[in-house]
Amino acid sequence: GYDATPYLPKRGGLPAHRQAAAECRGCPLFEDATRTVFGKGAATARIVFVGEQPGDQEDKQGEPFVGPAGRLLDKALTEAGIDRDTTYVTNAVKHFKFTRAGPGKRRIHKAPDLRELTACRPWLDAELHLVRPDVVVALGATAGKALLGRSFRVTKDRGTLIPLPGEDGQSPDGEARYVVATLHPSAVLRSDDREAAYAGLVSDLEVAARALG
Ligand code: URA
Ligand code: SF4
Repeated sequence: GYDATPYLPKRGGLPAHRQAAAECRGCPLFEDATRTVFGKGAATARIVFVGEQPGDQEDKQGEPFVGPAGRLLDKALTEAGIDRDTTYVTNAVKHFKFTRAGPGKRRIHKAPDLRELTACRPWLDAELHLVRPDVVVALGATAGKALLGRSFRVTKDRGTLIPLPGEDGQSPDGEARYVVATLHPSAVLRSDDREAAYAGLVSDLEVAARALG
């Protein structure tokens, strides 16, 4: 099956992992995408944001959340009192999956399937292991399911501190580690009631900010 594991370095920090991920062929998504979009931010970050997969702009620029969804996220982070420079931002899947449609053959985002999510998971696990944040924010259902399992539902599970499953569930200093789930910024942009959806995103981010103390 598809699996990124053979491409992971045996040792090294985030830079070594970023470099190795650039050559990942753990699933077929590398074939059509421009490049691997690895996570970005400080290894010392206490909060990690996990999206779904890079979009068109991220694929072109090589960094997560730099397109329209990223601009909305930046605004919401500022409003929630979270400085993006103190965060680490990544995605559940590291390559852009798309179909071409319309007269200009524009690249349209396509959701990653379970095989691709499972294949790419070792990169996310490595990032979480290396950064060891106190809080992980799942942006949308894909990240929520990746972190909390298949029964995760954004509507019922958002905006609350959920213990991070796996390993010992503890940070190195013995403090509990949490997941806070919220809407995906792209879902806010698509929402019929954008203002309410945005306010919900900000209030969920405030829950994460309070957990940081
Ligand atoms: N959507 C995501 O989930 N991640 C990005 O990096 C950009 C858009
Ligand atoms: Fe590797 Fe993930 Fe890209 Fe698939 S999506 S090739 S597993 S980095």
